[in-house]
Amino acid sequence: MKEKFYITTPIYYPSGKWHLGTCYTTVVCDAIARFKRMCGMDVFYLTGTDEHGQKIEKVAKESGIDTKLFVDKQVDTLVKLWQRLGISYDKFIRTTDKEHKKAVQKIFDKLYQKGDIYKSQYEGWYCTPCESFWTKTQTVDGKCPDCGREVELTKESCYFFRLSKYQDRLIDLIQNNPEFLQPKSRQNEMLNNFLRPGLQDLAVSRTSFKWGINVPFDNDHIIYVWIDALTNYITALGYMSDDDSLFKKFWPADLHMMGKEIVRFHSIIWPAILMALDIPLPKKVYGHGWMLLGSDKISKSKGNIIDPVILSDRYSVDAVRYYLLREIPFGSDGIYTNNAFLSRLNADLCNSLGNLLSRSCAMVNQYFGGLLPKGEANTEFDNDLLEKVNSLFEKVQKNVDELLIPEALQEIFNVVNRANKYIDETQPWLLQKDPSRKDELATVLYNLIDTLRVVGIVLLPFLPNTAKRILADISVDAPKEFGDNVKAGQCVVGSKITKGELLFARVNVNKELEAMDKLAKEIEKEKTADKVEKEKKVENAKAEITIDDFDKLELKVGKIIAAKKVEKSKKLLHFTVDTGDRERSIVSGVAKTYKPEEMLSKQVVVVTNLKPVTLGGVLSEGMILFADDGDGVVTIEPSKEIKPGSTVS
Ligand code: MSP
Repeated sequence: MKEKFYITTPIYYPSGKWHLGTCYTTVVCDAIARFKRMCGMDVFYLTGTDEHGQKIEKVAKESGIDTKLFVDKQVDTLVKLWQRLGISYDKFIRTTDKEHKKAVQKIFDKLYQKGDIYKSQYEGWYCTPCESFWTKTQTVDGKCPDCGREVELTKESCYFFRLSKYQDRLIDLIQNNPEFLQPKSRQNEMLNNFLRPGLQDLAVSRTSFKWGINVPFDNDHIIYVWIDALTNYITALGYMSDDDSLFKKFWPADLHMMGKEIVRFHSIIWPAILMALDIPLPKKVYGHGWMLLGSDKISKSKGNIIDPVILSDRYSVDAVRYYLLREIPFGSDGIYTNNAFLSRLNADLCNSLGNLLSRSCAMVNQYFGGLLPKGEANTEFDNDLLEKVNSLFEKVQKNVDELLIPEALQEIFNVVNRANKYIDETQPWLLQKDPSRKDELATVLYNLIDTLRVVGIVLLPFLPNTAKRILADISVDAPKEFGDNVKAGQCVVGSKITKGELLFARVNVNKELEAMDKLAKEIEKEKTADKVEKEKKVENAKAEITIDDFDKLELKVGKIIAAKKVEKSKKLLHFTVDTGDRERSIVSGVAKTYKPEEMLSKQVVVVTNLKPVTLGGVLSEGMILFADDGDGVVTIEPSKEIKPGSTVS
């Protein structure tokens, strides 16, 4: 039976715009998941969205859209982004999924029945952006210790989770099981900042807003969003559902991957919940560093293009994947700059890898008519290259197992660079001039193409598109799994070698930097214009009214039984409308859009209790409602013929 591997990213808040930093966890996990699959493991890769809570509700409200519609739209964009970046997840969970909501309620209930959740009074400080509660002493200068933003004093009756009960077990877990939390620096952080100073019970319900999952036995309370979110790792596998076969197969998680700011939730609160549920703990929690822009966690543009879609459209998806996987020392923070992005693209992808492929394929075409010649290793250079090719996979595998992702790529590029050096050492262009050295030339070219084959195969999990293109150029099918195929000497003599298109076009860094700067300014300008437009909309919005205010309106369905122009007016039409109680004379300013005959017999919505006025010399005893999107008006009609006088509410 295949060994299983369950890997998760955090579930993403569908609240803002996605930037390069947000793609970091997902791309890294994708490379690991693909690698493990190719190692023959049965992989389950989970990602998704964390859709509840006050923060999302607030952002949705600000955008003026119904909260569910808002998150649906955001999730759609995120899924498209993951597709664009080639993220090979096995499941995308949404915390608004029916099955998840049901399971969360069952989990909450189970913890309550066990006595690990109890009801009491809460007084504390709440940071809405982080969805975190803090005590007065935990706040720093009265602000959130995690993000430095304002916190609000919150007082309410709520449910608590007995986090304090698990303190000793958690200390033991982190101290005596060093594999559980990685990298090591995070262990000291958790022990010194949270566990040793003492854990307090955790408030796990709220009553001040509604956008979330109800406490199953107390409808006024919404389950704390982090309880809702963390449990996704088991509800996605069907825990507490009618079919928990995936849970039985894949739990415990082999790897929970996340950014360092949410390690506390994953290495303290999450294991405590699992302990309370009597479920095995995840094998590893890994808190990677941040991608920074200047000294900030990426948030704004500042001249750098950090939109993954723009970057991948302009420079290819694999250029983006490569940058994310290669540039940041895994576990630490790394700074994004356009310059570093372009330099990586030019130096590694274009010069090293792209050149190796195009030179090697070109020489096979030029010297052997595009068919791979037979070769045998027989020089010092040959043997050194073969040794490096043969040991490549083990080195990469060891690095991936230890989550040293940039190092894994470094190993691959060491071989690429070694092969480029091999060309310089063997100088095939000189060999081909001497017919007596034809076998040597054949060996050099065979070894180069064979190196590209192994590099292409090992590169598949990291840069799938590029790897497939390399393999296609040398007539090798991309394999599903690693095996003998990562050892040298497997290339089939006589294979067609194509000199395909350049893998990556070399960019002129200075020109590109200028272009990127210009683009960033345009994006900034568009954003400002959008903001102004939004603010205008908010300004133009009318003040809120109560239901009593609304109730003052009398709205009825009316049928237009006569329509004509108002003399001496270009704008006004005069209608006779049957509103059930009587026939009314109504004047509307729609002559520019509708001819009188077009309005005849239409059913419309009428405000029937408006004080009568005279318009264009004609009495108007009510108002017909029209919709206006700025491009002209349209009538609002019932979806089927209905009796005139029917009420509208
Ligand atoms: N919803 C929570 C997670 C709940 S998991 C039970 C959350 N969501 S998030 O959208 O804010 O972050 C999702 C992931 O993106 C996290 O791993 C976070 O660290 C990562 N990143 C967001 N910005 C980042 C950078 N600038 N750099 C690296 N990773 C970053 O937290």
